[in-house]
Amino acid sequence: MAALIDGKKISAEIKEELKEQVARLKEQGKEITLAVIQVGQDPASTVYVGNKKKACAYIGIRSLAYELPEETTQEELLELVRSLNAREDVNGILCQLPLPGHIDEDKVIRTISPKKDVDGFHPESVGLLSIGQKGFVSCTPAGIIQLLKRSGISIDGKECVVIGRSNIVGKPMGMLLLRENATVTICHSHTENLKEVARRADILIVAIGQRKYVTAEYVKEGAVVIDVGMHRQENGKLCGDVDFDSVEPIASAITPVPGGVGPMTIAMLMNNCVESVLDA
Ligand code: GUN
Repeated sequence: MAALIDGKKISAEIKEELKEQVARLKEQGKEITLAVIQVGQDPASTVYVGNKKKACAYIGIRSLAYELPEETTQEELLELVRSLNAREDVNGILCQLPLPGHIDEDKVIRTISPKKDVDGFHPESVGLLSIGQKGFVSCTPAGIIQLLKRSGISIDGKECVVIGRSNIVGKPMGMLLLRENATVTICHSHTENLKEVARRADILIVAIGQRKYVTAEYVKEGAVVIDVGMHRQENGKLCGDVDFDSVEPIASAITPVPGGVGPMTIAMLMNNCVESVLDA
């Protein structure tokens, strides 16, 4: 029987702390503003963007919404980003991904000023993370570190295996775990003997993007299992990349889906918005 790692509760704690911090900053005359850009009307993006705006309102961060039509040209979008870079009253800029196919996402990410890159996606932010210097950190992996720490799970010296090597989760996750003095292995679709490698983990982080992929054979008895996946099943319920029912009996602690990693991403976005004014 594994302990459940409660992302809903931990993210609520973080949001309360940030709310108090934002109120103190306001007393010092420091307002925080996040610009949120959405191009087109992808339904999932609309839900995510709505949740981000709600979290801003709750914490006391002003949000500016830019809802642009699908046909927006790359140059129009880049022009908006440049104008937001130049505005002193805007502290953070977030452009919701994915963008329509005719827009080069990489170009947009590179155009956002690293000083306002609250998603932590800019190459400068990624570079700073990899050399252990201060910069914005991608929200989902930063949230996972908070989940572990606030659940009393020590990372120092532990064998950590990350399944998935995306720029947004897998790679920054590896860097953050290394910063916490873990021994880190990053696995991917070409990894030989994935089950055996995964079974080495004291802490197994699964961001493979395939529903219920990780079953009990991938998990060492007593391991901590963090599930980054989120999929809608035929019955309408959500599930993760981990087959919860098979893994839960052998893990010592596990994140549920929903209510595990998901709520942490927005909490850490709010944290990055607060940091954007602390460093200004
Ligand atoms: N699309 C899915 N997740 C994210 C995220 O964390 N940030 C942005 N900008 N787009 C996303």
